[in-house]
Parts: sequence; C-alpha cells; structure tokens
Amino acid sequence: MLLIFILFISLDSVTSYSGQEKGFLQCFSSHLEQSNQTSQVLITRNSSDYSSVWKSSIRNARFLNTSTPNLPRFIITPFHVSHIQSAVICSREYGLQIRVRSGGHDYEGLSYVGEADVPFLVIDLFNLRSISVDIENESAWVESEKSKLYGFPAGSCSTVGVGGHISGGGFGTIFRKYGLAADNVIDAKIVDVNGKILCRKTMGKDLFWAIRGGGGASFGVIFSWRLRLVPVPSTLTLFRVRYTLEQGASRLLQKWQTIGNELNEDLFIHAVLEVTDAKTVRVSFVSLYLGGTKNLIPLMQESFPELGLMSENCTEMDWIQSVLYFAGFSTHDSLEVLLDRTTQFKGFFKAKSDYVEEPISETGLDGLYKRLLEEKTSYLILTPYGGKMSEISDTEIPFPHRIGNLYKIQYMVTWNIEDESAKHTGWIRRLYEYMKPYASKAPRAAYLGYRDLDLGRNKNGNTSYAQANIWGLKYFKKNFRRLVQVKTAVDPGNFFWNEQSVPVFPLK
Ligand SMILES: Cc1cc2nc3c(=O)[nH]c(=O)nc-3n(C[C@H](O)[C@H](O)[C@H](O)COP(=O)(O)OP(=O)(O)OC[C@H]3O[C@@H](n4cnc5c(N)ncnc54)[C@H](O)[C@@H]3O)c2cc1C
Ligand SMILES: *[C@@H]1O[C@H](CO)[C@@H](O)[C@H](O)[C@H]1NC(C)=O
Ligand SMILES: *[C@@H]1O[C@H](CO)[C@@H](O)[C@H](O)[C@H]1NC(C)=O
Ligand SMILES: *[C@@H]1O[C@H](CO)[C@@H](O)[C@H](O)[C@H]1NC(C)=O
Ligand SMILES: *[C@@H]1O[C@H](CO)[C@@H](O)[C@H](O)[C@H]1NC(C)=O
Ligand SMILES: *[C@@H]1O[C@H](CO)[C@@H](O)[C@H](O)[C@H]1NC(C)=O
Ligand SMILES: *[C@@H]1O[C@H](CO)[C@@H](O)[C@H](O)[C@H]1NC(C)=O
Repeated sequence: MLLIFILFISLDSVTSYSGQEKGFLQCFSSHLEQSNQTSQVLITRNSSDYSSVWKSSIRNARFLNTSTPNLPRFIITPFHVSHIQSAVICSREYGLQIRVRSGGHDYEGLSYVGEADVPFLVIDLFNLRSISVDIENESAWVESEKSKLYGFPAGSCSTVGVGGHISGGGFGTIFRKYGLAADNVIDAKIVDVNGKILCRKTMGKDLFWAIRGGGGASFGVIFSWRLRLVPVPSTLTLFRVRYTLEQGASRLLQKWQTIGNELNEDLFIHAVLEVTDAKTVRVSFVSLYLGGTKNLIPLMQESFPELGLMSENCTEMDWIQSVLYFAGFSTHDSLEVLLDRTTQFKGFFKAKSDYVEEPISETGLDGLYKRLLEEKTSYLILTPYGGKMSEISDTEIPFPHRIGNLYKIQYMVTWNIEDESAKHTGWIRRLYEYMKPYASKAPRAAYLGYRDLDLGRNKNGNTSYAQANIWGLKYFKKNFRRLVQVKTAVDPGNFFWNEQSVPVFPLK
C-alpha cells in the first residue's frame, strides 16, 4: 500500500510526465495493488536512486554517459514474477519499449540504453537471484553452487548474468567436454508478450529451441532456468605458461592452432595475445584440465611437447577454485567474491569476434602482431573448439558454431579517456578488416555473446531485412530463418525489439 500511495501522490504533484508515462504508471500501480505488494519495484527518473541503479551493472563506460540519447523512463526491479508480467502488459498497452537486464554485460549496452526518441523502460532482474540446486537429479533451478563435485558449464566471469549469457549460448572452461550453457538447459520459465508465464511444456518446442542461443531479448523475459549440472573431478589442474615473440611464442601458437581443438576433451587450453611493457607480443597458454597433474604431464608430452610443461608449472585445485581463477580472482579468495557484483573493470571497451576454420599462416600472424603492437591496451583471446562442440548438431539449438571450427577469436581494446574512443574503435575495425582473409567466410561468423553493432542494426523501432540478414546469418547461420519464424509466431507485433532483435515476417 505504501508504494501505491507514493505513486499517486507523485502523479498529482508532477506535471511533466507524458500521457504515455502517466498511463503506464497508473496501469502498473493498479496491477501492484492487486498483488498487494508494498515494496519499491518502480524507479522513476526523479527517484534518488535512479542513477545509481541504472549505472549499477554497466560494464562499459561507453554507455555510462548520462547524456546518451535515451535513458529509460522507468526502471522496474521485480522481486516477484507478477511484477514482470505487469511491466510487460502495461508497457505494451502504453507503447513503451522494454529492455531486460540481468548481468548488464551486453557489449553494446542493449540491455539498458535505448534508441533516440523511442521511450522505453528497463526491467532489471537483480533481485531475482536465488539458485536452488537439486543434486539428486543433477539439475538446478536458477533465477536470474553448492557442491564441489558438480559444476555448470557456463562462462568464466562471475558477474555475467544468467539471462543474457545462457540465452546467447554461453561457454566456459569445460565447454569442450559438456557443451555450452545453452546446451545444458532442461527447462525455462518465460513471461511472453501477453504477460503469460510459460515453461518448456507450455511454450512449445520452437520457442524452447529459440531461447537457448537465439538471445532471450527477442522473445520475452526469461526469469528462471533449470540447468543440468555436470560432474567434475575433485582435483583439477591449472596452468598458465607465457612466451614472448622473442622466446618463440609464434611457433607455439602455430602448433596450438592445429591441435587446440583436437586435444582430449578434459583439456582446455586457450591462448591470450597481449602487448607487454617491453613492447613485444606475449602469448599466454592458459589451461584447465579435469584431472590431476600426474595425468596431465604425459598428455601434454604426447600432444603439445613444444610447450615444455613441467609439474612445477601446474597448480592442483578444486572446481570452485578454478572458477575463481578464471574470474580473475586469486584461488585463495573467499567464495563470497563470486557473489559480489560490483564492477571490476571501469573503463571503455570495444570487442569483435571471428571464427577460424583454417590455421592462420605465419605471414598472417606476423601482420597481426604488428597491428597489436600499435595498440598497447589490446588483447585477443583464442578459444579452442572441438570435443563435445563438434558432436552437437549445428541446428540442435540456434547457436551454429560447431564442427569445422578450430577456434574463436575475441578481439578486445580497452581505454580510459572518452576522447580517445574514435581512435581505439578505429583501430579495432581496421584490425578486423585485416583479419578478413583468415576468418570464416560466407558468412564471416560472429558470436552473439560478443555483440557487435558494426555488423548491422535494426532502426527506428523496426527492421530492414537486408540489414538483419547480415548480422542474423553471422550469429546464427542457417538457424536465422527458423528464429524469424519463431519470432513471427510468438511476437507478431515485434514488441520485444532492440537494435539486433530477430525480425518478424513479412520482413520489412
Ligand atoms: C567481463 C565479461 C566476461 C564475459 N565472459 C564470457 C564467457 O566467459 N563466456 C561467454 O560465453 N560469454 C562471456 N561474456 C559475454 C556474455 O555472455 C554476454 O555479454 C551476455 O549477453 C551477458 O549476459 P548478461 O545477462 O550479463 O547481460 P545483459 O546486458 O543483462 O543482457 C544481454 C542481452 O540479453 C538480454 N537479456 C538479459 N536478461 C534477459 C532475460 N532474463 N530474458 C530475456 N532477455 C534477457 C538483454 O536484453 C540483452 O539483449 C562476457 C562478458 C563480459 C562483459
Ligand atoms: C522531476 O522533478 C522535477 C522537480 O521536482 C519536476 O520539475 C519534473 O517535472 C519531474 N519530472 C518527472 C519526470 O517526474
Ligand atoms: C496485504 O498486505 C498486508 C500488509 O502486509 C497484509 O496484512 C494483508 O494480509 C495482505 N492481504 C492479502 C490479501 O494478501
Ligand atoms: C556523452 O555523449 C554525448 C553525446 O553522445 C557527447 O557529445 C559527449 O561528449 C559525451 N561525453 C561526456 C563526458 O558527456
Ligand atoms: C527428481 O525428479 C523426479 C522426477 O522429475 C521427482 O519425482 C523427484 O522428486 C526429484 N527428486 C528430488 C530430490 O527433487
Ligand atoms: C615451468 O617451471 C619451470 C621450473 O620451475 C621454470 O623453469 C619454467 O620457466 C616454467 N615455464 C614457464 C613457461 O613458465
Ligand atoms: C519504421 O521506420 C520508418 C522509417 O524510418 C518510420 O517512418 C516508421 O515510423 C518506423 N516504425 C514502424 C512501426 O513502421
């Protein structure tokens, strides 16, 4: 009752809301009254915590600028699913667009920044965080780890939200053995365009297919996932060995390109390329092995002896410690840090992605090193595919990057001064141009999780097919067409829209 009281008071005393906003507020508060909720779930631009809540999970200072063209009219912070239903129903009725935010990691800020002149609100799911793990059935219901012997094959950054991450694919250090996060979804609960709650059984197989890799934002608001947990051994082994170009890094990288995807699926070795203070490129081979050092050393002798790995270079740990390590924490930190959602990186960044099907030639790599040396705050992460990823059909879920890929590249550049934005984004776009001959072709594929608006965008609240087909094919290949069919069936009015949402037929 308290909130409703406040809402009506402020409606009386504030005259500058548009008719649309007033309509929404009245609609939303009457829904709240019905569900007898008294806590604060709606934040207006005049609320004292508007700015801090909006900024709370922003990972990229490129979108922190409060003079950005369009900020949300309201932020809804549901702690019950009925709040999501009310927000959807009332937004639709009063023509407000919706952006849904879980972890706020979207690389182009699409979960919290809108298009100029398109009024929108943000549904921020940070209050829906409870996880219940059901070990007997090896599955977990996650809203938005309890055992040392069960893991979940998701990403390595502890602040990533489950909404965007799982619905966009989601890979982590054990994905060569168990597949993507999206490959391990057993059930999901979603609020659809009519404000209805659907689960796997009631949403139908097409929609359940679409939200496992097609991006949730085109289809509704997912508020719960049931996930398959996977067994992990009690002892895992981690190593990181680094070599500069002078120390022969390029020769090792060339070898890695040909074996990284063929290694035993218990062994994950990714390669990170970065520029050192000494103005050279350094390649770090960072690895997680599902087993002890005793078994790892002979495996490495057999498949990658050039790396010269010795047991002194290895650290044994349990699963949770490895999660901490790949999230950038010391393995001795308390597990509490995993639950701390404060932003670690505060600067600006721009990223792009590629898939590689043929090893890049030595000349190709030399040109790459030369360009990296022009930009000292850049890095590349090369993630090996193969293993389980090659066994799952490329139409099983919308995520299409399966057999035939050696590895994925993430290009990244970071900076701290706003005025330098054009310089750094220009650099990464030129690098991407340079890499064209070495990347996958027809289409030059990209990972949805590393969203890149350079690939094309929907405009003015609607979609140009010619444009959508470009980024659609890059992210989803032949699955794009089925995604458009599902979208047309479940949201024919194209209500769930963003700059890279799946369009509807007939394609405009
Ligand atoms: C530091 C960092 C590390 C990363 N590490 C990895 C990694 O190891 N592996 C990997 O695969 N990816 C990784 N990513 C990429 C990450 O998976 C994607 O950015 C993902 O979209 C983030 O999900 P989110 O919920 O945090 O983002 P958000 O910005 O909240 O959402 C991203 C998109 O999903 C939509 N969305 C969010 N929640 C919902 C929901 N509940 N229902 C419907 N739609 C929703 C949003 O509207 C938006 O379109 C990383 C990103 C960052 C910034
Ligand atoms: C916010 O408050 C100011 C000052 O009280 C008022 O002028 C303005 O109209 C209000 N705006 C909204 C959107 O409530
Ligand atoms: C509504 O909330 C009030 C205050 O918390 C409580 O006393 C009352 O029983 C609730 N009514 C219903 C129908 O849930
Ligand atoms: C913020 O964005 C606006 C418009 O995009 C731009 O003109 C301005 O320079 C940016 N920077 C700051 C610090 O406000
Ligand atoms: C495991 O799943 C079965 C069937 O889905 C169910 O009947 C059973 O209660 C579940 N076990 C637990 C511990 O929840
Ligand atoms: C591996 O460990 C050995 C022995 O401590 C050390 O000499 C060597 O430099 C390490 N290798 C790398 C690549 O770090
Ligand atoms: C779509 O785009 C056109 C042209 O940019 C614009 O006039 C129109 O209002 C937009 N919206 C819809 C729903 O057609």
